[in-house]
Amino acid sequence: MSNKLIIFDTTLRDGEQSPGASMTKDEKVRIAKVLEKMRVDVIEAGFAVASQGDFEAVQAVANAVRDSTICSLARALDKDIDRAGEALKNARSARIHTFIATSNIHMKMKLRMSPAQVVAQAVHSIKRARKWSDDVEFSPEDAGRSDKDFLCRIIEAAIKAGANTINIPDTVGYNIPHQFGQMIKSLIERIPNADKAIFSAHCHNDLGLAVANSLSAVMNGAQQVECTINGLGERAGNTSLEEVVMAIRTRQDVFACDTNIDTTHILSASRLVSSVTGFIVQPNKAIVGANAFAHEAGIHQDGVLKYRETYEIMRAEEVGWNANQLVLGKHSGRNAFKARLTELGVVFADEASLNDAFERFKELADKKHQIFDEDLQILISEIQTQSSETIKLVSLRVCTDTGKKNTATVVLSIDGEQKTATASTSGAVDATFSAINSMIDMDLNLQLYSVSNVTQGTDSLGEVNVRLEYGGRIVSGQGADTDIITASAKAYIHGLNKMLAATHRAHPQV
Ligand code: KIV
Ligand code: ZN
Repeated sequence: MSNKLIIFDTTLRDGEQSPGASMTKDEKVRIAKVLEKMRVDVIEAGFAVASQGDFEAVQAVANAVRDSTICSLARALDKDIDRAGEALKNARSARIHTFIATSNIHMKMKLRMSPAQVVAQAVHSIKRARKWSDDVEFSPEDAGRSDKDFLCRIIEAAIKAGANTINIPDTVGYNIPHQFGQMIKSLIERIPNADKAIFSAHCHNDLGLAVANSLSAVMNGAQQVECTINGLGERAGNTSLEEVVMAIRTRQDVFACDTNIDTTHILSASRLVSSVTGFIVQPNKAIVGANAFAHEAGIHQDGVLKYRETYEIMRAEEVGWNANQLVLGKHSGRNAFKARLTELGVVFADEASLNDAFERFKELADKKHQIFDEDLQILISEIQTQSSETIKLVSLRVCTDTGKKNTATVVLSIDGEQKTATASTSGAVDATFSAINSMIDMDLNLQLYSVSNVTQGTDSLGEVNVRLEYGGRIVSGQGADTDIITASAKAYIHGLNKMLAATHRAHPQV
């Protein structure tokens, strides 16, 4: 494609930096497989040096994905770059993304380095990264607030040292669209060797302008956009992949470029990321929100029925809506089940795990006759997480009576040993959580609790999301069941297990 815009997805790295959004290795691989199917050009799989788990996750994604370039973030430090290079060894196409802060406030207060030292370190790191891969990206962190002359100086040196992509981050989401676009344009015009690199935009959404800033960058010469599914990311998030891609696809009269993205996978990617991280998509979110293509006012419905384009600028089918047909049911066989999961990017380690998953599918199909892709994704998430959990839900009994206290009796298996506790409070969920709390020695702070339906109908799985805080660490937990009190218990226990398993991880920007 001529004038192709490169889509660099950082859901698994910058998206994961969102408190509570951490993902396991298996979850990252599942998301990466969907991104690959969507034809994302570059997948930033993580920050390999952050921990052994992060290293293994980048490695697993590099092994599993063949059609997209796999990237690891690295600070401009030897140990980071070497760790990224090691993790990417098996990738068919590997990129190292190294960065160092360039704004005065970051250089002085965070790095405590002079501008000359920052340039020297960037150059050294890019040269080291080039020893691992021919594909090296450099980001001057907080470029949005950096001195423009200094940016020209460091970027020129970075390209000379071997960086072939120059990413311009608006790290704190401070820029305004025309200003950010102008900055990209002027950098490309002023830097003498700018033609030797691809310029990229990386915008944060603190002022709700990440997508607008990215599009402005594209109109001013950026050939790559960094983005995340659902706009996931620290604070107010990153540029939303689905919004950028669909804006460009829909307004081909304005943009002189297009992406390779197969947009029909957008909705399934959105749902998978939401269910894995527990970050719910707001109903009025563009493209992937439940109401994005819903018309309520009678006048709109009438218009749409007569002639769709009266009120619709995109077709829902283009982004995967309405593709959600019934996929499996009670009478579906093992082969159909396996084939559908292969389609969703799930690979079974052996026959035993396939048989186990099939058994659980049959149990679910007994409770809920129509099984959709979303149900299968949740089933697989549960299987993958429960196998490594130290605390497991054995059974739950809840008695509710209007106007009286609700009583929950929970049986847990903790490190293989069964424990039982009962609690009575004014709410069934509260009683369930209180009973669990009485069996563990942790004073967890419940920061968020939400329930949503996974598919339509009263027999739908109810999915519960919790966000738990303990000693400053935040995790999210998800649980699904046709009974929402059981789903609540599963979500709480899932979060609890994550809290117990959480190890120290370095944050790239701290
Ligand atoms: O926002 C940012 O500056 C980043 C860099 C590490 C690229 O995420
Ligand atoms: Zn960022």
